[in-house]
Amino acid sequence: MEAEPVVVVDRVIKIYESGAERVTALKEVSLSVMKGEVVTIMGPSGSGKTTLLNLIAGVDRPSAGRVIVNGKDLTRMDEEQLRLYRLLEVGYVFQEHNLIPTLTALENVLLPMTLAGKRDKERALQLIRSVGLEGKEHRYPEQLSGGEQQRLAVAVALANDPQLIIADEPTGELDLVTGEKVVRLLLDQAKLGGKTVIITTHDPRVARMTDRVVLLEDGRIRGSYRPSRIPVSGTGGEEEIAAERIIVEHLKRLLEDAKKRKEEIAKKIAEGKITLDEAVSMYLKVKSLEEAILEELTRLGAGSEVLGR
Ligand SMILES: Nc1ncnc2c1ncn2[C@@H]1O[C@H](COP(=O)(O)OP(=O)(O)OP(=O)(O)O)[C@@H](O)[C@H]1O
Ligand SMILES: [Mg+2]
Repeated sequence: MEAEPVVVVDRVIKIYESGAERVTALKEVSLSVMKGEVVTIMGPSGSGKTTLLNLIAGVDRPSAGRVIVNGKDLTRMDEEQLRLYRLLEVGYVFQEHNLIPTLTALENVLLPMTLAGKRDKERALQLIRSVGLEGKEHRYPEQLSGGEQQRLAVAVALANDPQLIIADEPTGELDLVTGEKVVRLLLDQAKLGGKTVIITTHDPRVARMTDRVVLLEDGRIRGSYRPSRIPVSGTGGEEEIAAERIIVEHLKRLLEDAKKRKEEIAKKIAEGKITLDEAVSMYLKVKSLEEAILEELTRLGAGSEVLGR
């Protein structure tokens, strides 16, 4: 039974209710992910990416529908079963990488092991080495850079050797070089370790490195495509061509966002809210993302649409 999916999301609906307000964050979402597959979820802010990851990670429960992981229906588990599932079967790198500030890097990695009754210092040190933090095992999270914290969060997620790894914008604040390291680390888990990986990102460079990109919009899946198939554009089936159009639209919107962010930076300097150094560093990040989006649009054959040629 090789073709059994590791993750099955079946017609899931998620409604958040706070007071009188009701937000339907997911509207009948269905998705299957196979063993060893690396899937990216892309979509605008607020489209439901974190919500979907939370349901797959057993952090939250759907309002309707089922989530099945490794053949087990999470929606039928009680709190204790869910706790064990989270501890042993899934590694979650959160959007705001929740490291424990009062524990050192090494202690952060040891914590999930200890909770599982499998404390193994050698393995923890090995994980820290594998994310490139050798020599920094006794530092506290605040003594690490943003990129190092993110890599430590990956090491923590891998502590109990989970089959499923979920990462919510693992490269969010990082520059390309550091971001790529984090993604490579996750890809290696899948390609060398047979793990299943689901990540979200706004960065097309990250998406391109993965097997499949699923586009979420306003709580619904709009389409999906395989980045590796795109270079032979025009030879794909109708479904893939339609998915390409959707991703092109999405990338164009990301490009608009980047433009707005540059305008905001200019405004902030003018108002004296940020220093020139801060502005330059912010500007360079936006600029590099912009270039990546343009490159991806060009690869998709839509470069001329945005360059006005
Ligand atoms: N705890 C909550 N209570 C009420 N509404 C929520 C809650 N969490 C998320 N939402 C809403 O659900 C929708 C989806 O949110 P979600 O965090 O899944 O988006 P996202 O795609 O991860 O966005 P981003 O790219 O900004 O991280 C949004 O409209 C959001 O405001
Ligand atoms: Mg999110």
